[in-house]
Amino acid sequence: MLVTGGTGNTGRPLAELLRGRGIPVRIASRHPGPDPDHVRFDWSDPRTHGPALDGVEQVFLVPPIGVLEPMPLVEPFLRAVEGRRVVLLGSLAVIPGLTGLRDHVAAMPDSTVLRPSGFMQNFTGPHPVAVDLRERGVIRTATGNGRVGWIDAADIAAVADAVLAADEIAREYVLTGPEALSHAEAAAIISEVTGRPVRHEDITPEERIRQHSTAVPADFAAALTAMDLDIRAGSEDLVTSVVPDLTGRPARAFRDFARANRAECTPPPPPLPG
Ligand SMILES: NC(=O)c1ccc[n+]([C@@H]2O[C@H](COP(=O)([O-])OP(=O)(O)OC[C@H]3O[C@@H](n4cnc5c(N)ncnc54)[C@H](OP(=O)(O)O)[C@@H]3O)[C@@H](O)[C@H]2O)c1
Repeated sequence: MLVTGGTGNTGRPLAELLRGRGIPVRIASRHPGPDPDHVRFDWSDPRTHGPALDGVEQVFLVPPIGVLEPMPLVEPFLRAVEGRRVVLLGSLAVIPGLTGLRDHVAAMPDSTVLRPSGFMQNFTGPHPVAVDLRERGVIRTATGNGRVGWIDAADIAAVADAVLAADEIAREYVLTGPEALSHAEAAAIISEVTGRPVRHEDITPEERIRQHSTAVPADFAAALTAMDLDIRAGSEDLVTSVVPDLTGRPARAFRDFARANRAECTPPPPPLPG
């Protein structure tokens, strides 16, 4: 089993679950560690694709990150992968350049496309929203009061594991957490959990593009900002039961995620008066 994005939010817990079931795992990374299961894999270096796939029957596919048109990078890999079971990490949000990849994988026999809503991990780690939150106690997006069915990436991994273990699979699953929350509602929960004031600031699309551009190329930053405007219009205000249905346990709630990751989403203390 090859796990691309195997060092990321979703791939890392998936690799652990697969190992727990005794499945031999190959963890793909551009910077493989000393772990013998690690393999060097870079979307922009096709010479790394063949060796990573050698002897592998199933693939978890995390598309190239921050690339608006991934097909030219992924196409040779998809040809090499033919005949294997593929689970693609897609998204509920529609990013125009990424739909070609999604449609291609959906048309492959024995494939499944996972379409998760926004990740709870956007509020921790290196995500630009998390950086603002930690440094200034502000969550800045252009999503207005639009709600998102925030999901823990570990729950996506658990669904991927269940899909890979199943005989009968659906072609597509829309995955969410147990409740849809606006960014302001998420901020209120983080405030409560951390004991520090956190607020949501509704910024303009231009400001949001500038914010995303600190992490991804400008064209991708614009596409991510368009997603904010879709969320604002209600595109992710939904909850599905796929996580409990496929894993047999409830999806993690935002409050539980914030509690478990308190240190990573705690803003600095407010300045002393005077
Ligand atoms: N964040 C959200 O709200 C959200 C919502 C829906 C869908 N998604 C989708 O989820 C995916 C991200 O998943 P994630 O959060 O689990 O990943 P992540 O934590 O962002 O990690 C990215 C992974 O991709 C690998 N990677 C980056 N560039 C690579 C390259 N050039 N070649 C090979 N591997 C590369 C990294 O490995 P190394 O650095 O070790 O090479 C790492 O394992 C994206 O496709 C995104 O569209 C995200």
